[in-house]
Amino acid sequence: MVMKFKVIKEVEGSKARLGRLFTPHGEVDTPCFMPVGTAATVRAVFPKDLEKDGVQMVLANVYHLILRPGIQIIKEAGGLHKFMGWTGAILTDSGGFQVFSLSSFCKILPEGVRFKSPIDGSSLLLTPESVIDAQIELGADIVMSLDHCPPWPSKEKDLVEATRRTICWAKMGKERWEKHWGTEMVEGATNPLLFGIVQGGTKKELRQFCFEQLLKIGFDGFAIGGLSVGEPLEESLKTIEALTPFMDSSYPKYVMGMGHPWQIIQMVDLGIDLFDCVLPTRLARHGSAYVEEGILHLKNARFKTDGLPIDEKCSCYACRKFSRAYIHHLLKSQEILGIMLLSMHNLSFYNRLMKEMRLSIGNGQWIDFLTRWRNKKITK
Ligand code: GUN
Ligand code: ZN
Repeated sequence: MVMKFKVIKEVEGSKARLGRLFTPHGEVDTPCFMPVGTAATVRAVFPKDLEKDGVQMVLANVYHLILRPGIQIIKEAGGLHKFMGWTGAILTDSGGFQVFSLSSFCKILPEGVRFKSPIDGSSLLLTPESVIDAQIELGADIVMSLDHCPPWPSKEKDLVEATRRTICWAKMGKERWEKHWGTEMVEGATNPLLFGIVQGGTKKELRQFCFEQLLKIGFDGFAIGGLSVGEPLEESLKTIEALTPFMDSSYPKYVMGMGHPWQIIQMVDLGIDLFDCVLPTRLARHGSAYVEEGILHLKNARFKTDGLPIDEKCSCYACRKFSRAYIHHLLKSQEILGIMLLSMHNLSFYNRLMKEMRLSIGNGQWIDFLTRWRNKKITK
């Protein structure tokens, strides 16, 4: 098996590590945060600004792209990278989460999941095989298996069933994958990577069982799904903490759809390498900005005459050129520039944080970095 992930440095007294992923669209340094570009766009942000900020990989959702504009249209346009003007790596989510959270009608069958298109009401079927085909057709760099993410709370029996189904679908997807690429990875080949998704709710044994089974099937990396679905944050972190020591450390680990900046720091400490989250761009659209001390709600009247930049420590375009008062005015006037500037700043904030984390792991100062953050009083 050719590893497409390399651990570069580990930290004594923590599970944090520095790593590198090898994808068809370049190397990705970990810990890595992927901005979310659900519908082939990171909302309100130019790809050139992501590039300038050092983003190496973004996330897109195959569920949304199947619904609109359709995989065929993107394929004919030359693939997802060309279509969206992004030359870095792209991880596509399989739809296993979105179909359960976004479709009005959804029926789980052994062969996949049937649902109604929220766009035209037509009946569609996602199968473990069809989502692999679709992601390969898009030209994804990291392909995710189809999984069943159960709601929280769920009865133990339902968690067990969703986990068994996730394992079964992962195996079916892997078999389809091998039809595309063969069973043996060739050294130096630029194939995409295939990840399995660990489910099991907050049940430690079920999570471990799921990971063991996925490891046997064989993947390039492993995601931890089914978190941040309503459970208390402490429960999510405990679940990660119980699972990561159990997971083979030579593989990349990815926590799906989770994290304020201070939570991402905690997860890096638990050994997680990859993250995605809608928060920086979603909060921007609600008028909120991340700063080291927490979150500023810039629509608040107290910013009406505030001549300071969003964040004095930030050197992004929004912070270099504009005041809180101006952004407050844009938001109050419903001018789209307000959202664009906040989205740019919030992503810059995440990207700078990721860079600082990689740097402090690299130069042996992770524990100091962690302690400095733990001592901060965060206001949301
Ligand atoms: N995004 C956030 N959580 C999940 C999950 O459990 N499964 C998938 N496929 N995507 C997610
Ligand atoms: Zn900024």
